[in-house]
Amino acid sequence: MCGIVGYVGKRDCSKVLIESLSKLEYRGYDSAGIAVFEDGEIKTCKARGELANLVSKLNNEGGIKGNCGIGHTRWATHGEPSDINSHPHGNANVTIVHNGIIENYKSIKTRLEGKGYVFQSQTDTETVAKLLDYYYKGDPVEAIRKTESKIEGSYALGIIFRDFPDTVFALRKDSPLIVAVGEDEAFIASDVPAILRYTKDYYLLEVGELATLKDGKVSFTNLDGEPIEKTMLTANWDEEAAEKGGYEHYMLKEIHEQPTAIRTTITPRITDGMPNLEECGITEDMLRNYKNIFVVACGTAMHAGLVGKYVIEKIGRIPVTVDVASEFRYRHPIITKEDLVVLVSQSGETADTKEALRLAKKKGAATLAIVNVKGSSIAREADHVIYTHAGPEIAVASTKAYMVQLAVMYLFAFELAHAKGTLSEEECKRLTAELCEIPKAIESVLSQKDNCQYVASQLVNSENLLYIGRGLDYALSMEGSLKLKEISYIHSESYAAGELKHGTISLVTELMPVIAVATQRELFDKTVSNVKEVKARGAKTYLVTHSYIRVDDDVADYTIGVPTVDDLLMPMLAVVPLQLIAYYTSVLRGNNVDKPRNLAKSVTVE
Ligand code: G6P
Repeated sequence: MCGIVGYVGKRDCSKVLIESLSKLEYRGYDSAGIAVFEDGEIKTCKARGELANLVSKLNNEGGIKGNCGIGHTRWATHGEPSDINSHPHGNANVTIVHNGIIENYKSIKTRLEGKGYVFQSQTDTETVAKLLDYYYKGDPVEAIRKTESKIEGSYALGIIFRDFPDTVFALRKDSPLIVAVGEDEAFIASDVPAILRYTKDYYLLEVGELATLKDGKVSFTNLDGEPIEKTMLTANWDEEAAEKGGYEHYMLKEIHEQPTAIRTTITPRITDGMPNLEECGITEDMLRNYKNIFVVACGTAMHAGLVGKYVIEKIGRIPVTVDVASEFRYRHPIITKEDLVVLVSQSGETADTKEALRLAKKKGAATLAIVNVKGSSIAREADHVIYTHAGPEIAVASTKAYMVQLAVMYLFAFELAHAKGTLSEEECKRLTAELCEIPKAIESVLSQKDNCQYVASQLVNSENLLYIGRGLDYALSMEGSLKLKEISYIHSESYAAGELKHGTISLVTELMPVIAVATQRELFDKTVSNVKEVKARGAKTYLVTHSYIRVDDDVADYTIGVPTVDDLLMPMLAVVPLQLIAYYTSVLRGNNVDKPRNLAKSVTVE
């Protein structure tokens, strides 16, 4: 999704904007641009494609020299990716960058065209720029206030006016924006990694607040110009944490960070060997009383919910429904005040998940967010929040965020089951202790990356692939399959192993490799029978199971073993080879692993 940056200070503004935008590349984009004041005039440069295209265009045009400006990476929603549709948009008087969607842009556009305005781009954003120009009569705050009252939808906006050549204005609604301050300099950005090179101090801009960056300082007012006092936050990530740290790709680095991420996430939530979510406002009394649990999320986060469902239902004996957020919103779900709706999101900004949260609140259900980004919209709007402490996840394909979402799901399930009396204290302590052992076990899985590289080398020329499993292994295979298709572009599907023969097995030939996950020992023989069925039809089969288990050649062409923990916790180990297989397959196919085509890290539009 789009990334916004802005700078006011003494440095070379173009350089700062480009550097900051490069830290937002993970959000996914298809074009980029900047607008900087040079000798009192707004100079704009924009280019389709990677930031490198913008940099070479800037160089070819002699650069833009100034100390104040705004920048943008665009992920196309209205109009194709092109130089014209790239941001910034505006004219010589007022220029803006925008993240989000202006829902009523068509009616505004028609109105402005009637007043003689001519539009160059197909974007919704240009209507906001022109509306600001229309309302501007010398007072920027007045123009912003009037414009804000007319636009509907979601936005984070960075705005510059020719008459104020040392000032950046910013406001937001439903799209994230931070305002950061350094020594005699100030920044706006869509996310914290963009500013870490310069400062760690920042503010979260709230709806209805206007930030004015001038003379290296920042002030906040409401839209009537009345001052607002805000609390400054300090990022606990350093720039290095947001860099590759010697790994070839962010994804590989993040896969290796999983043991640390789990430790950081669970350690503060365990007291005397028992899960303790009190710091997140969750007590056993509350947990005892819910009638139903809904887990609502998108993509990988939704897959973490699927594992959560198995675990919570098995040990907590309470019905759990897992929904894709974009479906949940519109399926008129039956939720009551006695239910708990759990929203899972790495970014905390996913539009559909956020709206699902609002719907749940409207229905009076209790809401719990499991979120990675501190202070994000979902985290702030939910009744309770359990932060996952994965640190910044830069690769578009989520790995460590999924892992800590699982870790939190387990802690939550253990505490809930204990509260409801379906899990004894002794069992609860045993499972919690096993959870604490997972990071070490993952380290040993990571040391077998050669096996995963081998499997990747066998899959690299495939066009289609199947993942199969039963129970928790099925839930987990969904994530393995998504990972592979996201970054290798090989078509793959995940099936409940027992369901295969009800149709899909007709696709199985020697051209359809099958990855089977069989870590649930009570279902092992049944899954193995299904593996034999596909093998008998010519498929090459790869099995992920406990390392102590040996299978005959008529089952698997190749087996990857993972250490044994309680079967309930096996997904945390079995997912690691699936992540590595997806990673190495993508590398072997020469793909852009960290920024796969058409995908965005954070999907802030519906
Ligand atoms: C995008 C990303 C996925 C992610 C999903 C949900 O589609 O590409 O990796 O799982 O959004 O994101 P969230 O931030 O809500 O976890």
